[in-house]
Amino acid sequence: MGLLVLELRSPFFGQGHSVQFLVLIPVSAIFIAASLISWFIIKSIRKSLRILKNATRRVAEGDLDFSLAPGGRDDFASLMRSFDQMRIRLKDEYSRRSRFLMGVSHDLKTPLSSITGYLDALSDGMASNPEQAAKFMAIMREKAAQLEQRISHLIEYVKMETGQWQLPLEETDASSFLKQIVQCYREESEFLSYNFFADIRVPDQTMFLMDRELVTRVFENLMHNAVRYSGEEKKISISAEIASDSSKLSMAIENTGPGIQEQDLPLIFEPFYRGNASRNQKGFGLGLASVRAIIDAHGWTITVSSKPGEKTAFSLTIPLAAATAV
Ligand SMILES: Nc1ncnc2c1ncn2[C@@H]1O[C@H](COP(=O)(O)OP(=O)(O)OP(=O)(O)O)[C@@H](O)[C@H]1O
Ligand SMILES: [Mg+2]
Repeated sequence: MGLLVLELRSPFFGQGHSVQFLVLIPVSAIFIAASLISWFIIKSIRKSLRILKNATRRVAEGDLDFSLAPGGRDDFASLMRSFDQMRIRLKDEYSRRSRFLMGVSHDLKTPLSSITGYLDALSDGMASNPEQAAKFMAIMREKAAQLEQRISHLIEYVKMETGQWQLPLEETDASSFLKQIVQCYREESEFLSYNFFADIRVPDQTMFLMDRELVTRVFENLMHNAVRYSGEEKKISISAEIASDSSKLSMAIENTGPGIQEQDLPLIFEPFYRGNASRNQKGFGLGLASVRAIIDAHGWTITVSSKPGEKTAFSLTIPLAAATAV
């Protein structure tokens, strides 16, 4: 303020006190308004920073049960909304992990308890003759094999999920790979008595990049599910064609059967999710979670659609290699 008055009294203005006063009023008003606005802005920034600091501390302490719901459209409000989205994702991830751990514990505990039960029975002399002892042993062997299979599924799934899989992708001719797959399931369908149809419209020399072993696991899981959940009709089909823009391959594996309820569709790729109708069948609920992890690692996509009581279809979209000659 002092500086302003000094300036206005300079010879350049030199017309006396009334002019100085007239100029001073609006200048002071602007100065006060600017100061007030700055004060409000600083106050609001401080408040936002305090809220964010508090929220960061709560997240660091593992507390994710709060919500940041700022009004406004400024940068801080947008930052707070992003922070809140991060909190929601973390919370989902935590609950996914705890469901995962509960699933693992439960599914590993079941065959183990069974083995312990039969061992106790044997050591308590409950097998009255050698045949019964051999029967107990056979059950224990089956449970041990189940345990071993579950553990290897788990290791495979965790490897994929944590990105420990880093094999180089090999360029593969889609047509001959799919023909092999189809041949394999055609033979299996005769052996296991299901109706199998294939419609592969992929020209030779259509190349894509993949890890052969893992992609074979994807087909094994999808086909195993298709057969297992195909109901009385037991109709399964595989189709493949090149998309209209020639940049990708579209595939579908479809089966008849009770299907999947709409509300369950987003859950089926979650580890340990099993449909109500499947609970009485053998299974671990890791098949589709592994499929999703392998598909993601390849940069492909997989979607599912289902008409309950009729059919279910899994669709894969596979980008073609740049050198492909379609
Ligand atoms: N082709 C399908 N048709 C109908 N339902 C399916 C199909 N594939 C999967 N589902 C449903 O999704 C659930 C999850 O499938 P997923 O393959 O992950 O586990 P699972 O088959 O139950 O066990 P696992 O694959 O570990 O032996 C199944 O329990 C079933 O309810
Ligand atoms: Mg399965």
